[in-house]
Order: sequence, then structure tokens, then C-alpha cells
Amino acid sequence: MTYELRELASPEDWEAMHRIRLEVLFTAERHPGLVYDRAHPHDTEPTHSKFVFMHDGVPIGTTRLDPRGEGGIVRLVAIVPPLQRQGHGSVLEALLIDYARARGMKRLWLNAARDAVGFYEKLGWTAEVWDEVELATFAHNCVQMTKPI
Ligand SMILES: CC(C)(COP(=O)(O)OP(=O)(O)OC[C@H]1O[C@@H](n2cnc3c(N)ncnc32)[C@H](O)[C@@H]1OP(=O)(O)O)[C@@H](O)C(=O)NCCC(=O)NCCS
Repeated sequence: MTYELRELASPEDWEAMHRIRLEVLFTAERHPGLVYDRAHPHDTEPTHSKFVFMHDGVPIGTTRLDPRGEGGIVRLVAIVPPLQRQGHGSVLEALLIDYARARGMKRLWLNAARDAVGFYEKLGWTAEVWDEVELATFAHNCVQMTKPI
């Protein structure tokens, strides 16, 4: 089994990221009425690292890392539904931490969907409010979490 957390490098990688996000995260149940923007400024922002997570050459997940202060904010983590709960998300998280450490980051933050809090707790993340504005706006249904790396 080979894994690779790859920064988007081709139109196919971008398409895989959008496809997985739409299947897992931007669903009608999670975001009723939302029109997904394939050219969102938060994605086209060059300092934001977008990833496709490959398993044996097949895209099975995605995430994004936005630098902030001494660390980075982990955004939009997803593993395709048929492959969830098989250990892949833990590998994605470990490879993302390798990437962040290699860039001198000391800490990560994220807005965890409530049903993903248990996943992050198993990986050593703890609840901590790190951005009141996000928590009061688009992350109001989330639990803010952090992990030193
Ligand atoms: C959350 C997600 C990324 C986790 O990836 P995954 O590949 O399913 O997770 P893993 O199989 O590596 O799980 C690692 C551990 O966390 C546990 N776990 C996984 N998802 C969990 C959840 N939702 N709640 C509680 N525990 C969970 C697993 O049982 C496993 O525990 P174990 O080591 O004791 O067996 C994935 O399930 C997913 O994409 N979910 C839907 C989208 C989502 O919620 N994304 C996060 C937004 S913040």
C-alpha cells in the first residue's frame, strides 16, 4: 500500500479535490442551498496548500492547509465514503503533519465537524477556541481543536 499527500499539480488533481469535497463535505445535508465555487478565493490563494490524498495511485481524500502565525489551519478534510473508518484518515493526518513540520509549523488548528471530533481526539487533538469570529460565523456548528506538532 502506498500513500501520497500531494499538492495539487494538474487539472486532474483539482478535479479530484472538487469531486471528493462535493461527495463528502458540500452535500445538500451538510450545506443546504450552497452553490459550490470551484474558483473560491480561499482555494486560489497561493499560500494555501491544497492536497489530493492518493492511495495506490487513486485519489481517496483531500485537505487544505492555510498558514497562520506559528502554524497552520487544516481545512476541508475528507476521505471518500466507501473508504472511511479503514485507517486512511489517520495516514492523511500524519502526512499533513510531516508537511507542516517541514515548513517550520509548530501547531495546527481546525474547525471539527461535531461527528468528526472523536476522530481527532484519537489522534491527540484537543478542544480549544482559537478564533472567535470563525466560531460565531461559518464554523458555528463546529468544535475548534488544536494540536502541537
Ligand atoms: C473524519 C474522517 C476524515 C476520518 O477519516 P477515516 O479514514 O474515516 O478515519 P480512520 O479510519 O483513520 O480513523 C481513525 C480512528 O478514528 C476513529 N474514527 C474515525 N471517524 C470517526 C468519527 N467520525 N467519530 C469517532 N471516531 C472516529 C476510527 O474508528 C479510528 O479509531 P481506531 O484507531 O480505534 O480504529 C472521515 O471519516 C471523513 O471524511 N468523514 C466525513 C467528513 C468529515 O467529517 N471530515 C472532517 C471535517 S472536520
